[in-house]
Amino acid sequence: MCGIMGFTGERPAAPELLAGLERLEYRGYDSAGLAVTSSAGLQIRRVVGRVEALARLLEQDPVAGAAGIGHTRWATHGRASVENAHPQTDCDGTLAVVHNGIIENQEELRAGLEDRGHRFRSQTDTEVVAHLLEEEADAPPMEALQKVLQQVRGSYALAVIWGRRPGLIVAARHRSPLWVGQDQEAAWLASDVQPLLGGARELYPLDEDELALLTPGKAQIVTRDGEPVERQPDKSPPEVAAAGKGEFAHFMLKEIHEAPRAVARTLEGHVDWSRGRVAEGLLLPGGQRRGLRRLWLAGMGTAYHACLLGAWWVEQIAGIPARAVLASDFRDDPPREGEGERGLLVAVSQSGETADTLEAARAAQARGIPVYALCNVPGSTLARLADRVLMTRAGTEVAVAATKSYVAQMVGLLLLALALAEGEEGRVRRSQVLDGLASSVEAVSRSLALEPAMADLSRRLVRERAVYLVGRGPDHAATLEAALKLKEVAYLHAEAMAAAELKHGSLALIEEGTALLALSGRAHLAARLASNLREAASRGADVFVWTHLDGAPFQAARRTYRLPDPGHELLAPLVQAPPLQLLAYYVGLGRGTEIDRPRNLAKSVTVE
Ligand code: F6R
Repeated sequence: MCGIMGFTGERPAAPELLAGLERLEYRGYDSAGLAVTSSAGLQIRRVVGRVEALARLLEQDPVAGAAGIGHTRWATHGRASVENAHPQTDCDGTLAVVHNGIIENQEELRAGLEDRGHRFRSQTDTEVVAHLLEEEADAPPMEALQKVLQQVRGSYALAVIWGRRPGLIVAARHRSPLWVGQDQEAAWLASDVQPLLGGARELYPLDEDELALLTPGKAQIVTRDGEPVERQPDKSPPEVAAAGKGEFAHFMLKEIHEAPRAVARTLEGHVDWSRGRVAEGLLLPGGQRRGLRRLWLAGMGTAYHACLLGAWWVEQIAGIPARAVLASDFRDDPPREGEGERGLLVAVSQSGETADTLEAARAAQARGIPVYALCNVPGSTLARLADRVLMTRAGTEVAVAATKSYVAQMVGLLLLALALAEGEEGRVRRSQVLDGLASSVEAVSRSLALEPAMADLSRRLVRERAVYLVGRGPDHAATLEAALKLKEVAYLHAEAMAAAELKHGSLALIEEGTALLALSGRAHLAARLASNLREAASRGADVFVWTHLDGAPFQAARRTYRLPDPGHELLAPLVQAPPLQLLAYYVGLGRGTEIDRPRNLAKSVTVE
């Protein structure tokens, strides 16, 4: 987490840094700061809170200088305070450092530095880097950073400026993303490519363990040993993120409404509709596909919930054993020797920068298991390290809560399941699913018509202390995601359970008026779900059901919300998601939460 930014040119650096930091705020918004150099030396400004607070501070207390670095923070070491905000400096304030990542051996490094007389002002791990650099004051900047990097363990995207060297920025990356850019007069760096899109003409992602030296008009990349790297500029920079919310009150609401477009764009070019099959380009290389024995699908949070559905689809559609796994668990306990043979890891990540997911991908590759990535950000670390990538094309997602990207992930995983299916067996089912997908844009769009009903229901839930959500099989996976949205956006305790599990303990939580939300997407399970709900209603639960099924027997429900026909039962999760996202949005609105930037969170979680 945290976003870092740098600019050096022939015009004031502060406006460039502020504009970039605003675009990076999704990576953390606990505090913000910048440091600018000029012939007058180093000037630092830091605030607790958002980039807009930093902008206000700069209006009252401006800085002057054409080179600088900036930071927006998601706190890891130390509370959100001005002292812990970046940039961090050395004892005499001769240099400034911004950092995204975690220095794992900071305690021992700090102890050594304190023994050698360094006095610390913050609890951050980053300050250690500033003091280590101070000890290399006699070395040229790049050499000084190289020496310091030999001492630190952990993950970092780092940028450093020195008061005595206006115009110069040195940067490095290891397990945290970093981009650099240049035009004739200026050079930039940033944690992601978005802040560079408006200015830099040439954009370059840094590879693992590379460093960069920025001077006006030149971003020189070098290897860890200092060898210059000649790289072609990135050819496929992503679209510039939509800057505004348009007619919507929040980005989250806008992005929920963009789900149909996300579906359409993810399908685009990936299906050969005339031949009724997934387009060639999406298939795995022949041999690999034919020989596949098992799949792991790994992601975190919402992406993990998409994996739960993906594993179900792969088994149902392609008949290949598949298991959804938290990326962190895969990384902690990767397959043993031989277990991964003829296996495939499907790594799912909107940002392509989630540390847990990247580590899972690296763990797979280290064991010879190829990685198939589903990812929404072109040029992201995951997209670059995977053996094969399917882009989900949901467009930039600004709100911290994943909405349209989740819907696009589901579509991507359905395409993958179809691509993995081959031969005559299951041909009929494949073509039925494809027919369903053909009408999925419309179905997802129609599911948004439930918005007024969800706004209405939100008023019933707004003062609840807890709500419970149930479903069977894939419907349970969908409730996990719906519960996550209620937690993160509405700060409402929401617990998802397998419907059949209720009677095995959790039913004790039900009392008069407890809100119980249920999803029913599979006809042959409706009667069993209805029994589960009846048992809860008999004990006082206030039951609400979402289903596309006609004549489903939910007499126990206070209200049944009719979802549009998804075109095929396997596609029911596609139409379940948007209404439940809308519900979370409206409950959040009613509870007065910070919907687009919920407390304590960040959109891209780049620490493990
Ligand atoms: C929830 C949410 C998170 C992310 C998770 C993984 O709304 O957005 O749970 O899904 O942090 O992020 P990505 O998909 O970027 O790897």
